[in-house]
Amino acid sequence: MSLPVVLISEEEIQQRVAALAERISDEYGDDDELVLVGVLKGSFIFLADLARKLTIPRTIEFIAVSSYGSGSKSTGAVRLVMDVRGNIEDKHVLIVEDIVDTGHTLKYLIGMLESHRPASVKTCALVRKAERAEVDVSVDYLGFDIGDEWVVGYGLDYAEQNRTLPYIGVVKPTD
Ligand code: IMP
Ligand code: MG
Repeated sequence: MSLPVVLISEEEIQQRVAALAERISDEYGDDDELVLVGVLKGSFIFLADLARKLTIPRTIEFIAVSSYGSGSKSTGAVRLVMDVRGNIEDKHVLIVEDIVDTGHTLKYLIGMLESHRPASVKTCALVRKAERAEVDVSVDYLGFDIGDEWVVGYGLDYAEQNRTLPYIGVVKPTD
């Protein structure tokens, strides 16, 4: 596979993540019990950077779902692979996703987490492919809108490759 072509540079990502962290820190109070729920695996780098830039108290949980195989074709159904471990009842939950494509995963996660009876559930995603939306799901804190292309880097993969690139780049899927 050829090297990904830069779509969003490391500097653009860092600036945007800092701006999102500032907004989130402003909009939640110091007394809110904010739980960041990172969606594995793709959100791990975004979550690490975002969480360290927040200036309000926060705790971290992870959740894992699977909706895609090793390639880029959606299987449609979303399956819970690992639930949050901590108790999130009456806490403010912020789902931290790498990318919103069709929206099925995020919609499923909102419903799933709401069943734990948190005080609120909001969503944060680094990237969204607006034109690919199949379900109506709102992203409260969004990094970037991109077109219909497969992206890797900053946590995102294609067949598990390129997650640790510091930038977001475009690759051509082969399946
Ligand atoms: P959705 O349910 O269609 O919104 O799919 C969301 C999930 O698909 C994301 O959390 C990613 O794991 C994966 N995904 C969708 N598009 C891309 C991409 O361009 N690069 C890497 N992963 C992607
Ligand atoms: Mg994901």
